Amino acid sequence: MSNLSRRNVLSLGVALGLVSAASAAPAWASAAAGPAAPGADPWWVWDDEVDRIMAAVLEAGQVPSVNTAIRSWVNNGDPVPGGLPGGLSTYLQKVSRLPSWADLAKLRLAADFNRRKDTYLFMLYGLGSGIMSTVIPREAKSVYWSAGGADMQDRAAKTFTFGYDLSDHNGFEPAGQFVVTANKTRLVHAAVRHLLPRSPHWIAVADEPNRIPISNGDILVTFHSLGTFVHKKLREWRVPMSAQDEAAFLHSWQVAMHLLGVREEFIPRTWAAAHAQSEQVLTPVLAPTREGRELAEDLLGLTAQVDLGVTRGFLNEFVRYVLSDAIGDWLGLRRDHAAAALVRTGWPAYVAFREGLLPVMPVGFYLFDQLIRALAMLFLNKVTSPTTTPITIPTGNRPG
Ligand code: HEM
Repeated sequence: MSNLSRRNVLSLGVALGLVSAASAAPAWASAAAGPAAPGADPWWVWDDEVDRIMAAVLEAGQVPSVNTAIRSWVNNGDPVPGGLPGGLSTYLQKVSRLPSWADLAKLRLAADFNRRKDTYLFMLYGLGSGIMSTVIPREAKSVYWSAGGADMQDRAAKTFTFGYDLSDHNGFEPAGQFVVTANKTRLVHAAVRHLLPRSPHWIAVADEPNRIPISNGDILVTFHSLGTFVHKKLREWRVPMSAQDEAAFLHSWQVAMHLLGVREEFIPRTWAAAHAQSEQVLTPVLAPTREGRELAEDLLGLTAQVDLGVTRGFLNEFVRYVLSDAIGDWLGLRRDHAAAALVRTGWPAYVAFREGLLPVMPVGFYLFDQLIRALAMLFLNKVTSPTTTPITIPTGNRPG
């Protein structure tokens, strides 16, 4: 992605219905729950209040003490740690709550939907969204050149925490953890906005080194690679979903985006709006980068340490199947034509059988089942193990 600025500012603006364009339906402006701010531009909106606080905390060398203090802050119902520097406690007290428009009944249904469809979600978030993040150039370069890029296993574990808490049956309840996890992530993003512009390596590769990373626009793009992508694939695979399920799943992501600091007027109101935006702001920016190729290799290589019950060739072909051959080629994923044939015929049959739409167990059923179980174990072990690395605020960038 070479010239994000003008073209994407316009396309995101059009997708959001903020810029008039004959062909663009005003995506969700009409049903906005929050106050509309016509003309606001998500590519130039960050998270001012917490960005200021975290910049001061970093400059004062106070990040280690903040990390220590937030370590025991885990459940949504836990009190925010007091005495954090720079007004951070007061800030966190203000933002660590659900927005007024959050609908608990919908969030509970979303949790139930996540449980019912977890088979597909493991595959789609893990092998689809995870690898797609490596061909979103701004994200790949940020992740690679931030401190966490040097240890992808650790980073993947932390990211799993977010997905796990979001999908958990009580993720949004006082005994759940998602509100806290999202707020810790918000602090990490604020720190990254201060740190990356000081990395000579990031500056050398950034499409616009003078622009602060992780804008509201960037977060929307990443949301599309997660929630919108998963929703699209579930539909493509004809996984049965009720209209209420679909709405609830979107709602959980809307609340997540809010907690990550995306302004309400930018959050898609409907799946139709989300898909339209995704076509405008995600699909056109996908591209290979050196950083992304390395990250993808790290991520897929992680699985070599775990027995997923399938070969690396099979994994490569599954990634190609969910993302496209073009992306597979960008990432240099070695072909395995026998595995490709099995994935292309076996996976749709597997889905149909699981959903009770096919009476006979298809060829390859156990292979897919084993892969999903192994992915689930990887996910659950990482997250529930007492040695799990909690989300911590970085103090610097990747050294080189
Ligand atoms: C950190 C999730 C958007 C770049 C994190 C972490 C989580 C997370 C859970 C903490 C784990 C860790 O420290 O590795 C998300 C979600 C997003 C999103 C759910 C949107 C829906 C973005 C975007 C970018 C980005 C758009 C860049 C363009 C980073 C970086 C880190 C980070 C550089 C810090 C890694 C480090 O510690 O060095 N994100 N993120 N994120 N995120 Fe995001």
